[in-house]
Amino acid sequence: MALQMQSIGVIHSPYTQATGTPIQFVYAEGTEGTVEICAPFVEGLADLEGFDRIWLLYWCHRSGSPRMRVIPYRDTREHGLFATRAPARPNPIGLSCVELVRIERHVLHIRNLDILDGTPLLDIKPYVPAFDSFRTVRTGWLTKERTGRMIADGRFHRRTE
Ligand SMILES: C[S@@+](CC[C@H](N)C(=O)[O-])C[C@H]1O[C@@H](n2cnc3c(N)ncnc32)[C@H](O)[C@@H]1O
Repeated sequence: MALQMQSIGVIHSPYTQATGTPIQFVYAEGTEGTVEICAPFVEGLADLEGFDRIWLLYWCHRSGSPRMRVIPYRDTREHGLFATRAPARPNPIGLSCVELVRIERHVLHIRNLDILDGTPLLDIKPYVPAFDSFRTVRTGWLTKERTGRMIADGRFHRRTE
């Protein structure tokens, strides 16, 4: 089934090429950017300023052709595409939880982004810890059985399960 979408804005960031762009927003501490929202959607920003963090869903417009098996950044072995966060996907949708610094009319000032400059924005949702976080979860191949530590967040927390 072919679906039609429209971008609701554009993301601006200091990153113009994949090399040097953080592989996840949690590694992008301090990176500043903006999101410019198109006029018909600006009214929808009402009440968003009360949230410290927002989810951005965007179209990875510069990703290559998808392959169903990939070697992700954090491993040297192949994994199924859907067990990774690789940007080249059948529908190249990216998902980043960024810090919302302030809103000026149609412009959101954000921090901690792993997104290329000029990326089309698909949607914005508020980050709500009660909905969006779980204290104990399995993290598949990102859990290194050998060391008993998790590399899922890069900070090598000890496994709890
Ligand atoms: C591993 S992906 C993760 C993206 C997102 N946080 C996610 O989990 O869906 C991050 C990489 O996507 C790439 N990227 C970001 N914006 C892109 C775009 N518009 N087109 C293609 N690649 C993009 C950058 O190279 C960045 O390092």
